Amino acid sequence: MTMDIKVSFSKVSLPETGTLVLFAAEGGILGREIAALIGKEAHEALKKAAEAEEFKGKSKSVLVIPAPFGFEASRLLIVGIGDEKQRNETPFLTLGGIIAKHVDKGGKVTIVMVGPEDWKLDGKAAADIALGVQLRSYRFDRYKSRKADDDKPAKISLHVKIVSHHTEQARTAYVHAGAVADGVNLARDLVNEPANVLTPEAFAKKAAGLSKLGVSIEILDEKQLDKLGMRALLAVGQGSRQESHVVIMRWHGVKGHKDKKSKPIAFVGKGVCFDTGGISIKPAGNMEDMKGDMAGAACVVGLMHTLAARKAHVDAIGIIGLVENMPDGNAQRPGDIIKSYDGQTIEVINTDAEGRLVLADLLAYTRERFKPEFMINLATLTGAILVALGQEHAGLFSTDDGLSERLTTAGLATGEKVWRMPLGPAYDKMIDSRFADMKNSAGRYAGAITAAQFLRRFVGDVPWAHLDIAGTGMAAANSDLNQSWGPGWGVRLLDRLVADHHE
Ligand code: BES
Ligand code: MN
Ligand code: ZN
Repeated sequence: MTMDIKVSFSKVSLPETGTLVLFAAEGGILGREIAALIGKEAHEALKKAAEAEEFKGKSKSVLVIPAPFGFEASRLLIVGIGDEKQRNETPFLTLGGIIAKHVDKGGKVTIVMVGPEDWKLDGKAAADIALGVQLRSYRFDRYKSRKADDDKPAKISLHVKIVSHHTEQARTAYVHAGAVADGVNLARDLVNEPANVLTPEAFAKKAAGLSKLGVSIEILDEKQLDKLGMRALLAVGQGSRQESHVVIMRWHGVKGHKDKKSKPIAFVGKGVCFDTGGISIKPAGNMEDMKGDMAGAACVVGLMHTLAARKAHVDAIGIIGLVENMPDGNAQRPGDIIKSYDGQTIEVINTDAEGRLVLADLLAYTRERFKPEFMINLATLTGAILVALGQEHAGLFSTDDGLSERLTTAGLATGEKVWRMPLGPAYDKMIDSRFADMKNSAGRYAGAITAAQFLRRFVGDVPWAHLDIAGTGMAAANSDLNQSWGPGWGVRLLDRLVADHHE
């Protein structure tokens, strides 16, 4: 659920109403062009206000002036961009986020994209500011029935008008940025939604909604999954009243797609709509967070939305496994031995290590059916990755150095950072089982790595990367770009990977 936001771009001028946003460098300097535009008197009044509030234009600092002297706007927001180094290091997304924080009551806001002469303010920057405003303005409040009427009207709408010297370029860049905003906010909605509402079936229906954008959708139910032999995935869901589903989404954005040689790229998501642990039940503390155990699948759906909405020139598959992991008379037991889609046998040591069972079938199926150029899976897979990397980086495990580097670079560019972790035969050995080909849990040591080794056994020789997003994919630390619980992590990262290398 988003605040209703409209974005437009136009030539540089000052607004007659609403909030006016200007940028100021360290020392409070507005830049010659802006100074000329607002006139001497207004500039003097502004300097006085800045002095009174000890505003010095430090990076990310903000000065709010109501009813500013010499302006028609009803409110002035001066956003500090710091010295030359700081302003070139602060993402425009972040600036958009800072602005959004101060216009959370809606209305009209005009952002003047003219700054100190040495600051590069192109159309891309304008579109990124708009994206930052949209991401930060996201709210998930559909279940708040008691809204205090003074600070929260039922519906807030915001009109963001960005004035710059590059409006055409900005509009073009915003076709992309707007699609990203919608994809991220869709992923957030899915993560924030509770498990009584977002059941595997409800999730599948949401994903099917992408058909509106030209994404082709296939939904497999339990009968079809059983026929295919996805017994590992089905074993996870067998204790639940909710039927398990797999959804396959395909965006075919490559012209002349008759070309049989061109391979699709594939994104695979863990969609455990609720993870109680099953018979190996989790302790009660914070178990409610396990409604977010489908953040990987949410990211895949958000990404597919973005790619389709911006008509990306790529052939991309999204595939998600939607299940609920419950304890029940029919639930799987520790010690059970199950057979995966590709015929390997798995001893279930711990029913709480369920994500890897879901992904095992999806990865093997995707590899065999689509023969993709690469597979990237996303999963809130292990608590161990939180111990290792916290919420700063997602764990990256990969069989492909090139893919790893591209993901790492895209991470630094978007702020959705990944950190590569090791794989190797010594870790692989740890999941050998006494009774079957492998076991699904190897105990405490190297928990995130042994989980990755497990997945590794199902990818064959398709270049593959696994992102363990247990730390980054839910329970977001409040940030400049997100105020809700679900961050929609990964949509911007993977969209960037596609845009930079696969179109
Ligand atoms: N969904 C959890 C991992 C998780 C933990 C995600 C905390 C987000 C926050 C996963 O299914 C799980 O339970 N993993 C176990 C594996 C263990 C039993 C081998 C874990 O990490 O403890
Ligand atoms: Mn689990
Ligand atoms: Zn889980």
